[in-house]
Amino acid sequence: MTAARLTVDPRFAIGPVSRRLFGGFVEHLGRHVYDGLYEPDHPEADERGFRRDVIALVRELGVSTIRYPGGNFVSGFRWEDSVGSRAERPRRLDLAWHSTETNEVGLHEFSDWLEAVGSDLMLAVNLGTRGTLEAIDLLEYANVPGGSALSQQRIDNGRAAPFDVRVWCLGNEMDGPWQLGHRSADDYGKLASRTAKGMRQLDPTIELVVCGSSGAQMPTFGEWERVVLEHTYDDVDMISCHAYYQEHDGDAESFLASAVDMDRFIEAVVATADHVGAARGSTKRIGISFDEWNVWYIDRVDAVKPTAIDDWPVAPRLLEDVYSVLDAVVFGSLLISLLKHADRVASASLAQLVNVIAPIMTEPGGPAWRQTTFFPFAICSRLARGRAVRLPLEAPTLDTARYGTVPAVDAVATVDDEAGTAAVFVVHRGLEHPVAVDIDVSALGEVEVVETHLLHDDDPGAANTLDEPERVRPRAVETRLVNGILSVSLPPVAWIALSLRRTG
Ligand code: AHR
Repeated sequence: MTAARLTVDPRFAIGPVSRRLFGGFVEHLGRHVYDGLYEPDHPEADERGFRRDVIALVRELGVSTIRYPGGNFVSGFRWEDSVGSRAERPRRLDLAWHSTETNEVGLHEFSDWLEAVGSDLMLAVNLGTRGTLEAIDLLEYANVPGGSALSQQRIDNGRAAPFDVRVWCLGNEMDGPWQLGHRSADDYGKLASRTAKGMRQLDPTIELVVCGSSGAQMPTFGEWERVVLEHTYDDVDMISCHAYYQEHDGDAESFLASAVDMDRFIEAVVATADHVGAARGSTKRIGISFDEWNVWYIDRVDAVKPTAIDDWPVAPRLLEDVYSVLDAVVFGSLLISLLKHADRVASASLAQLVNVIAPIMTEPGGPAWRQTTFFPFAICSRLARGRAVRLPLEAPTLDTARYGTVPAVDAVATVDDEAGTAAVFVVHRGLEHPVAVDIDVSALGEVEVVETHLLHDDDPGAANTLDEPERVRPRAVETRLVNGILSVSLPPVAWIALSLRRTG
């Protein structure tokens, strides 16, 4: 048994916990929309074709803002195809995922679904194969109340009130050579700046996200952010970060330390943005929209993606990763990293939501179930309230091949003064021994433990599947609270959430 000590002191506040940290992402990809959230022939389908069981799970997950409709998909997308009479909507070839897009679900239908799940819309515009005019047109269609050709078209299509979309992404992963319309930082920066200015001329109240790098491993990382922000600093509110982690070649030690990489990634983007701001003499601070993050076994994609000229399936099974307990513990540590940067990460979107690298899986005509990653997200989204608080920590260290020497334990807390509640989230990355964690909560005053949730399994490879959908569940864990010290023992490869309530 090793030992770690944490201190929760509300004076070490990082920043407010924005609900937007618990956002999601729905891309027209594989069985995400079709045969995922939408399956009109399913016994659980509502009158619009949306699965009620999926709606219930998304609500339970607690997802705030949902980014839509891509992803790589958006860079070939013509938004006009997805509105108006369904019978007249064209079937299009989606080059990103080599699939057929039927456009049966479009902006109006997706917006109805969002109302059912209680989430807000975050829209991405196509700056890959399209440009400023199409982005402005979509904004007019979505946000202008009436009195213009495109707003009238929306009204004629059955939606009197504007969609009033608050957050807009200026393209997707434009640094990636795989992206349709991929371009240099200089070209993209100029296009993004022109487009942002045009969109703001139409609606100055919207928030704009410019594309950062699609990963810290990109050869242009850092320089891309600098150049793009030099063009767009005054035009945008946020810059995006994307990161996916997986276990490489059985190196579980490094995989468990993925959040260290996420910490460094966020801090590098913040430093670059602040450098651009400083050089301009600007007091404005650019936020981060971490609008794609997850565990993703990306190496497996090429094996399943169709490529033949006559092979354009509708809703093929793509990116249907099955997540283990180990994956979910890493996933939980990524949530800790996001909360630890609540001062600069203004928004985050778990990529993705249903069937596609998702916390929720469905079987056509069959059940919907929670993957292991569902639990840390749902628990964090529900318990992380008020402001995030940095925890000074003393912990043993681990040596990893990818990220060097890292603390075996990482943690963050949230404190909600008004509600008189607090929550502590802790990950144990060690693979061998349990760790005894003492958490000094005396600065919170008199408190009691309300909820405990431990995510761990003696088999870190355990997963929830169609055959065994309830195999993994978090369980309650024993804690001891004596003289302001909250003690809990964490087994190897474990993530835990504790919620506290003031009693005095
Ligand atoms: O989330 C899957 C894909 O990952 C998205 O389409 C793309 O933006 C990223 O590369």
